[in-house]
Amino acid sequence: MNKKQIYILATGGTISAQGDEGKTLGYTNGVFKVKSLIKSIKGIEDVTKVNGEQIFNIASEDMSIDKLLILAKRINELSKLDNIDGFVITQGTDILEESAFFLNLVVKTSKPVVITGAMRPATSNSADGPNNLYDAILVASDEASIGKGVLVVFADYIIRARDVQKIDTFRPQAFAGKEFGCCGYIHDNIINFINKSLKPHTINSEFNIANINSLPKVGIVYFDVNLDSDIFDYYINHDYKGIVIAGSGSGMISKRWKSKIKEMTKNSIAVVRSSIATSGSVDRDSIDREYRTIPSYTLTPLKARILLSLALEKSNSYEYLKGVFEKY
Ligand code: DGL
Repeated sequence: MNKKQIYILATGGTISAQGDEGKTLGYTNGVFKVKSLIKSIKGIEDVTKVNGEQIFNIASEDMSIDKLLILAKRINELSKLDNIDGFVITQGTDILEESAFFLNLVVKTSKPVVITGAMRPATSNSADGPNNLYDAILVASDEASIGKGVLVVFADYIIRARDVQKIDTFRPQAFAGKEFGCCGYIHDNIINFINKSLKPHTINSEFNIANINSLPKVGIVYFDVNLDSDIFDYYINHDYKGIVIAGSGSGMISKRWKSKIKEMTKNSIAVVRSSIATSGSVDRDSIDREYRTIPSYTLTPLKARILLSLALEKSNSYEYLKGVFEKY
């Protein structure tokens, strides 16, 4: 049987980091480039052919929408090649949930696209990078991963890009789909999918970035009991086209915020309500009718921000944006 050919797009992060022998803190990102990453995984060449390139070499907090657009366009371009069966992106874990959802909405291929990283530098005791990368490559080469949208493989779990969240700041089991769970797991060479996303993604998403080099500015405002509404003036005066509110509980906001929000939506700044809570849903209610806000449903503020900026690139009509959040 012909081995599948997997292409790694390496971007930096802890998976590429060198630190004090055995330790997990205080390391330098980006020391181990794509060729050394490939060399670090024992036994992978027995099952797949692996190649790759170093597209960036940054900590993921230095990622940006501009860079994500470059990454997505590169995947779209390479996906047309017959000698690539699937992709693995290695990156820092800190913004992984954002890049995963972004790519899930804009890559135009049903070939597997799998993202992974590491919580411990390569020089630590029991570094998690090699195993995460091994698993990610296998998932990317599995027929069952075709058409499943962008997948995150981390600490033996396969998690849908739409639902994945970083849930821990230092332990290897740092990602979860929270109440939506994982969509499968991997144990040595056994890959077991247990469910799939019903939300549109990749080739079925309406977002096409082929001719786009930037996206409308969208901010996130985090509610707290004492924050007054002046915060919104910054966004209004800096040409933001949309705001995602991380509201309290089910996306609630104070009276003093409400009048400012009414003013913004009247002036065609889109306002989406999400929540500071890390699970649950913000559903449509009377606030949305009265203030022309849009509920984010089960999308966290970070995910809602990505979706809103892509949607605003197409239209700022309230009905269109409301529909996008119902659909995705
Ligand atoms: N600051 C980091 C980054 O996201 C390192 C953390 C990590 O990769 O786990 O690139």
